[in-house]
Amino acid sequence: MLYIGEEVGGGDEDDPQVDIAVDPLEGTNLCAYGRPNALAVVAMAEQGNLLHAPDTYMQKIACGAIGKGIIDLDKTPTENLRSIADAKGVYVEDLTAIVLDRPRHEAIIKEVREAGARVRMISDGDVSAAIATCVESTGIDVMFGTGGAPEGVLAAAALRCLGGAFQGRLKPRNEDEARRCKKMGIEEIDKKWEIDELAKGDVVFAASGVTTGDMLKGVRYFKGGARTHSLVMRSRSGTVRFVEAEHHFERKPNYGLEGIQ
Ligand code: FBP
Repeated sequence: MLYIGEEVGGGDEDDPQVDIAVDPLEGTNLCAYGRPNALAVVAMAEQGNLLHAPDTYMQKIACGAIGKGIIDLDKTPTENLRSIADAKGVYVEDLTAIVLDRPRHEAIIKEVREAGARVRMISDGDVSAAIATCVESTGIDVMFGTGGAPEGVLAAAALRCLGGAFQGRLKPRNEDEARRCKKMGIEEIDKKWEIDELAKGDVVFAASGVTTGDMLKGVRYFKGGARTHSLVMRSRSGTVRFVEAEHHFERKPNYGLEGIQ
């Protein structure tokens, strides 16, 4: 496991300096229970361009491109739903909000239902949920709720590439976590982070499906190997590439054991 701020790479003076945010298994429980949307994700940007997010919670709102300049963490879910519906030219009843199924989200879920929108509750995986707001075929319009802060940075990087809208606010669970935020240079804990403050400049994002989900197929094993399905995208061009790969273990002898050689 890498620690926050750990330096990796060759270390040569001429090597490019980049920030990397990585979650080798986003949705540990999704994978353990064989549920959809477990991903392996990585984001990269020039040095200093990804927020070094402490291991705490983050309140998040995510939406497709239509949400730019419209969604606002300071507004209620009802207000956000109305603004999104207006921008899309539809009724609030036509919208679907995706929310992590947690007791802390009871009030949000109740409010979304009362506003008339549908709720898709998920057991885990809010990076995939945030991405889903930018993929029309998922039928998801907006994501509300609080999840991991590092996942928030990964989601912001993904949505930068997809042209989506995202805001986050750190939510330390106790004094110790608040102190850790300060120690990591975050003075204003309550700050509302905009998407391009969480992931600045040119960003590259890649994800591979671990279990099959909304956008990616999971890892499929065959005798002597496995097939993987990944997406690779970058913010500068907005190009989204899907990669279907076939891996042959006899030619990658240490695959899954001591790392890929
Ligand atoms: P892990 O894969 O690290 O378990 O994260 C899964 C996840 O659902 C994230 O997508 C989400 O941000 C976070 O956990 C929510 O945290 P919690 O389970 O504490 O509510």
